Amino acid sequence: MLGVPLQIGPIRLSTNLLLAPIAGYCDLAFRRVVREAGFLGGGSGGVGLACTDLLSPQGLLRGSATSLDLARTDAADKPVGMQLYGSDPEIMAQGARWAVEHGATVVDINMGCPVDKVTKKDGGSKLLTDLPRAARIVERVTRELERCPLSPDEWDDRRGDASLARGADGARPPGSTPVPLTCKIRLCWSTADYDAGLACSPGLARSLADAGVAAVTVHGRTTEMKFSGTVRHEGIARVVEAVAGRVPVIGNGDVTTPELAVEMIQRTGCAGVMIGRGALSRPWLFRDAWALQRQIIGGGEMPTPPTEAEKVAFVRRYLGLMLEHRGEHYAMVQIRRRISWFAKELVTRDERGRPVGCRPLKETVRDASTPAEVMRALDEFEAGGLRTRPGEAIEAA
Ligand SMILES: Cc1cc2nc3c(=O)[nH]c(=O)nc-3n(C[C@H](O)[C@H](O)[C@H](O)COP(=O)(O)O)c2cc1C
Repeated sequence: MLGVPLQIGPIRLSTNLLLAPIAGYCDLAFRRVVREAGFLGGGSGGVGLACTDLLSPQGLLRGSATSLDLARTDAADKPVGMQLYGSDPEIMAQGARWAVEHGATVVDINMGCPVDKVTKKDGGSKLLTDLPRAARIVERVTRELERCPLSPDEWDDRRGDASLARGADGARPPGSTPVPLTCKIRLCWSTADYDAGLACSPGLARSLADAGVAAVTVHGRTTEMKFSGTVRHEGIARVVEAVAGRVPVIGNGDVTTPELAVEMIQRTGCAGVMIGRGALSRPWLFRDAWALQRQIIGGGEMPTPPTEAEKVAFVRRYLGLMLEHRGEHYAMVQIRRRISWFAKELVTRDERGRPVGCRPLKETVRDASTPAEVMRALDEFEAGGLRTRPGEAIEAA
């Protein structure tokens, strides 16, 4: 459904686009700048929902500093999904309650992570091989969420630009409403099973809907594929068919342009699109993917591409928010690591159309030891310096 905002349980998002969890990348500072990038150049937004990286419920319940840092959110980071991983229904339920008590708008269960550290403990995509356990977790978590519903005022504090579904008379829903639960799955564990038409995801999605989830996100790869090979749109389409509109299905995988978001929706029939890696260098992708959908269904202008000054301002803002939320050490580690992603979009052309890269900028930021040095490098770049001379290799760094 092109251009139609996504409804997840009681909340209607502002768009049908979601920022994916990407462990080590989608922290509070990044989620905030990606949300803000929707409004660049007069854009009308783009991120309907952003999700935390996967969180260990045990870590949250013990109060481990790492887990608490990963779960950090604030008033500008709404609506937000908090993603839990694990395999014990009781601990997942307690983790879900913790998430509700700490600002989650949606609770998500990770059933797609292929990383050994997670699957060896029966969590993540290992749940694709134990469907009864997956359903038990969802039933137990749903029950817990029903025990800690939010009042209309609490909803107002955490819905951001989403709206809470209204009663038939248009009034706010009476009483309290639980936070909805979603699951993020893959097509199945084994690629051979998938190729033989034995993917578990259509049946799993149906049983998750029976057990109480409000939406299912499907990454169109098997666990064995990890992140390689191309995303199988037909596998996502089968999940859409299987749930037959009972809950919305969100398609995920390899969406790096607005056109690919449209293709994901048209080829699979999904109700929403989750975008991960594409946002790491182009945070304004959500703005453009939403504008393109609206243009297709109703006409209207596409937003102008961000200027170089806006892109540099984005890097500064990201650094500033990391300093605010996590302090200098964290901010410096992240900016040195992330500058190559942002730099991909800072390649320009000279007057003869030759690409002008920014390898010297990347090197200077990677060598920087203080935020002030990073800011000075960005000043110099904006003044025309720290660029690759025409003819030099631009991608080698
Ligand atoms: C480095 C990395 C970390 C990820 N961490 C998570 C995670 O914490 N939780 C999750 O559900 N998916 C995680 N994913 C998967 C993404 O959310 C997404 O499903 C996948 O990258 C495909 O979407 P994309 O092509 O838009 O990036 C991760 C992916 C990558 C590459």
